[in-house]
Amino acid sequence: MDWKTLYKERCVTAKEAVAHIKSGDRVVTGHAVGEPSYLIDAMVSEADRLKGVEIVHMVAMGKSEYAKPEMAEHFRHNALFVGGSTRTAVKEGRADYTPCFFFEVPRLFQDSMHINVAMVTVTPPDKSGYCSLGVSVDYTKAAVEAADIVIAQVNEEMPKTYGNCKVHVSQIDYFVLHNDPIIELTPPKIGGVEKQIGKNCAALIEDGDTLQLGIGAIPDAVLLFLKDKKDLGIHSEMFSDGVVDLYEAGVITNAKKKIKPGIMTAAFLMGTKRLYDFVNDNPSVEMDPVDYVNHPFIVMQLDHIVSINSCVQVDLMGQVASESVGTMQISGIGGQVDFVRGASMAEHGKSIIAISSTAAGGTISKIVPKIDAGTPISTSRNDVDYIVTEYGIAHLKGKTLRKRAEALIEIAHPDFRDELRKEYEVQFQCRYFS
Ligand code: COA
Repeated sequence: MDWKTLYKERCVTAKEAVAHIKSGDRVVTGHAVGEPSYLIDAMVSEADRLKGVEIVHMVAMGKSEYAKPEMAEHFRHNALFVGGSTRTAVKEGRADYTPCFFFEVPRLFQDSMHINVAMVTVTPPDKSGYCSLGVSVDYTKAAVEAADIVIAQVNEEMPKTYGNCKVHVSQIDYFVLHNDPIIELTPPKIGGVEKQIGKNCAALIEDGDTLQLGIGAIPDAVLLFLKDKKDLGIHSEMFSDGVVDLYEAGVITNAKKKIKPGIMTAAFLMGTKRLYDFVNDNPSVEMDPVDYVNHPFIVMQLDHIVSINSCVQVDLMGQVASESVGTMQISGIGGQVDFVRGASMAEHGKSIIAISSTAAGGTISKIVPKIDAGTPISTSRNDVDYIVTEYGIAHLKGKTLRKRAEALIEIAHPDFRDELRKEYEVQFQCRYFS
């Protein structure tokens, strides 16, 4: 059967499509701003007939109504990363968290998490019957390939992107045609502290480097200080609007990238409509699955890769906690360690953990004598490379525990340095001189 006939036959209403979800099913939704909001709403409106449906999602950017207290009997959210809309459900024990490296999620779908239903967003099919997964390819493509049933919201607003991001009409069981604006992120506020951190990170970036940047005020602040650099490249789990400014200014050319020169590579994107318009039908950006983009074996081949991520606590040994405050899960590991490891194996690679020196309005130091009890370590002391705060740069790789502690105390907030020095003197049985 030709794809056009197949497509026509498989177009249904949202109610008809979600009727295929059964109690006890595992449902994976498209990731981040690629989530199919219209289908999720339709599923939630069927809550009365559903019991114990597991909803697997990573960075959930929509309403996440399935995680509300009144939905507890019907849906149980399984978070691969805990975001703002799902944090309370995890904290209150109404949702679960599954630890995982981002690059391994496609493998989990093949080997250990059987998917009954995948619900994703796609563009309308092209002339050959291929739909693009747009701004969310990451684990979403793997979910399409692994699920028993695939339901797609065909959204004309989804940017048509290039890369290994296409699925054929024959891979999708039900199509629901519905246009929704792609969820936009409010650009973060960049204050003086973030600017100083950005400046310090920028000092570690050289012409021709390839960058991986996380999301938020610090990565955006770093971009502000790169305007005088030349031939930067992007190979990043995700990127946002700040990259568009530097591309248009001719700072990002991708010319020196060891893999896919001339092309920006990402697994997902989140930003404003400006970003989505920029990537639409733009062959200079390729969207690829996360088991390619984040795989340390790929990252290590990008000579001169610099990864920049953040955390909540660093102890004096350089152990980095990025996901929890004590036992409270506040986010996830995402691609942090994928890139830390890839960068440390790459020729001239650097990995940076960039943080403000304090949290909670200056009342808590992020550089601590010991990580809080119950807090999982995200980046180990063996993997850590650079820690950057607004007070400077601590290069830890290759340094003894004593030298690491000294370097970290130097970049801690001055209000907390005495306490850290005391711990240093206990740990190393010697006076601290600085
Ligand atoms: N003690 C107590 N609370 C702390 C804390 C600490 N040491 N550090 C941060 N917090 C609190 C903040 O006060 C804030 O609380 P609020 O939401 O109630 O205001 C919350 O934790 C988030 O901290 P903040 O510093 O504002 O977060 P951020 O937006 O800069 O993100 C991470 C920081 C670590 C959560 C985030 O970078 C992350 O999830 N990293 C791991 C994943 C990763 O690196 N992925 C790869 C790139 S996408």
